[in-house]
Amino acid sequence: MTSQRKLDHVRIVSEEDVAFQQTGTGLGEYRFLHQALPEIDKGDVNTGLHFFGRALAAPLVIASMTGGAWPTAEINERLAEAAQMCGVAMGVGSQRAALENPALAKTYQVRRVAPHILLFANLGAVQLNYGYGVEQCRRAVEMIEADALILHLNPLQEAVQAHGNTNFGGLLKKIETVCRTLTVPVIAKEVSWGIDEATARRLADAGVSAIDVAGAGGTSWTEVERHRAPSEHLANIAATFQDWGIPTADSILMAQSGAPSLPIIASGGLRSGLDAAKCLALGATLASMAAPYLKPATVSTEAVISKINETIEELRITMFCLGITTLADLRHTPLLKKVATQ
Ligand code: FNR
Repeated sequence: MTSQRKLDHVRIVSEEDVAFQQTGTGLGEYRFLHQALPEIDKGDVNTGLHFFGRALAAPLVIASMTGGAWPTAEINERLAEAAQMCGVAMGVGSQRAALENPALAKTYQVRRVAPHILLFANLGAVQLNYGYGVEQCRRAVEMIEADALILHLNPLQEAVQAHGNTNFGGLLKKIETVCRTLTVPVIAKEVSWGIDEATARRLADAGVSAIDVAGAGGTSWTEVERHRAPSEHLANIAATFQDWGIPTADSILMAQSGAPSLPIIASGGLRSGLDAAKCLALGATLASMAAPYLKPATVSTEAVISKINETIEELRITMFCLGITTLADLRHTPLLKKVATQ
């Protein structure tokens, strides 16, 4: 059942080690060239920007995670309150549970506590092959008064699940119809295996307004599914794909080559403001994290605020020690160097 699955996801990600074992994000292969004489006042570092018509204090997103079961309402509320306080964006988890059972809509509705945040609705793109269409997409957006809709692409997650929805045939055309019909922007997002250049190009041609790479190196969704596998057979299969995917750093570069005119959202294994800064230097416009904000959200709004402020301060310090005051100057800075790996 969808609600139980939502609770399993939160519990497993909070309690188990579900990180990729061998595959890293690739961000460790990059270092910034420290500037001993930055010639700026740290107070002049400006991390603000506008995205999809909203003002953000920092280029950060609390990634799509949850909703759809009663205990998750509190998590979404804390995340949203913190996003509002800190001026960052947020996505809710897949809203399919609330489309199936409208009483659950409340577990996603956070506008009451977060009237000004950039807020993303979320549905699995594959649902467009299982009876969903533009109408369900519109309802998901209206349900939470979202500024944009994320359609997530998760073929591997569906494939390693019991009774997963694995018909991905002809999806692009349906994504295109949603993009052309919906009045809000559509973002295509993976869930932890990255997006390659050709796929990014096809998504751009279909009319998506941004791409969230959700690359490999952080939370591994085959590991999450392995922990909730109903049989040894499925657990073994999930384990085989533990390290599948395109590392986040590579995927950021690939997605930009395939869709040079689209903003790229970096996610998948970012764990600090320094990671976020590297992604922005690689060309991403926003940096997004899921798991790092989940644990604080099970504690309190203040714990989430503290984690977000930590991330923003790390980004600010990075920019200061590079002598960079704006996000525009951080983007593609020559001060990000690829280091030789052993
Ligand atoms: C997720 N993620 C996710 N993504 C999505 O598009 N729709 C969803 O419903 C969910 N659900 C979800 C639940 C939980 C508990 C977590 C931790 C994550 C995936 C998430 O947005 C992100 O892409 C990956 O988790 C990789 O980022 P991190 O965790 O390595 O920062």
